[in-house]
Amino acid sequence: MESQKQKSIYDIFDQESPIATEMRRLYSNIRHLDGRASKRSFLVTSADRGEGKSTVASHLAFTVARFRGKKSLIIDADLRRPRLHQIFNVPKEPGLLECLEGTHDPLQVVKDTPLENLKVIPSGKRIRSPAHLFEGDILSEIFEKIKFYYDIVIVDSAPIIPVSDPMLISSEVDGVIIVLLAGMTPRNVALRAKNILLDANANLLGVVVNNLSEVLPYYYDYRYYGYSEDEK
Ligand SMILES: Nc1ncnc2c1ncn2[C@@H]1O[C@H](COP(=O)(O)OP(=O)(O)OP(=O)(O)O)[C@@H](O)[C@H]1O
Ligand SMILES: [Mg+2]
Repeated sequence: MESQKQKSIYDIFDQESPIATEMRRLYSNIRHLDGRASKRSFLVTSADRGEGKSTVASHLAFTVARFRGKKSLIIDADLRRPRLHQIFNVPKEPGLLECLEGTHDPLQVVKDTPLENLKVIPSGKRIRSPAHLFEGDILSEIFEKIKFYYDIVIVDSAPIIPVSDPMLISSEVDGVIIVLLAGMTPRNVALRAKNILLDANANLLGVVVNNLSEVLPYYYDYRYYGYSEDEK
């Protein structure tokens, strides 16, 4: 698993792989889950750290851009533990932080990837406590602009329980996906995360179960991701 960290998603993504299939399935499920109009913006979060948010968000964005041909944007809104610049091999700055500070326009900080349909807004520079930046009106303005230019927007975020940012972002997107680490996330912790989101009126779409133990090698196992709606 260690070596995977060094590789970008372009190296490891294989369109025939079970994960690609699962991601295509996940996307068609979440798009029409509640029978309402097609959803276009999604927040990927989890109860706690290290459950696989960045991995799921990246593969989902890659899949949508590649197979659906949609103009897609992935945003690194985890300003504390940013990862997308590494996964997609793009510059880390300027990014979302500079937009939240009001020094840059969102369209100025969008980075290209080798996939024409996929763009990335990285986290931007690091500051010690970014929480207050998510509280102003500027977050809505950023999302409004971005949604005008992109068909699909996927947001990778910090975990819900330790940090308030994902809760604030949840009201800017059409739906929220929670990633759980199979066999690891305690039930009460998962429920608490769900309740925080529901209290914030988030549109919870479901849970992706990220199954580490059954995955060796990396994504070649059919059971890599399971998906269920029943946590709703
Ligand atoms: N199903 C999996 N199989 C193997 N490795 C995985 C799997 N899912 C995630 N990983 C690895 O586990 C680590 C944590 O995953 P990831 O960065 O996606 O989690 P995260 O929830 O975004 O973490 P953080 O809270 O730090 O942002 C990464 O090194 C990632 O490559
Ligand atoms: Mg992450």
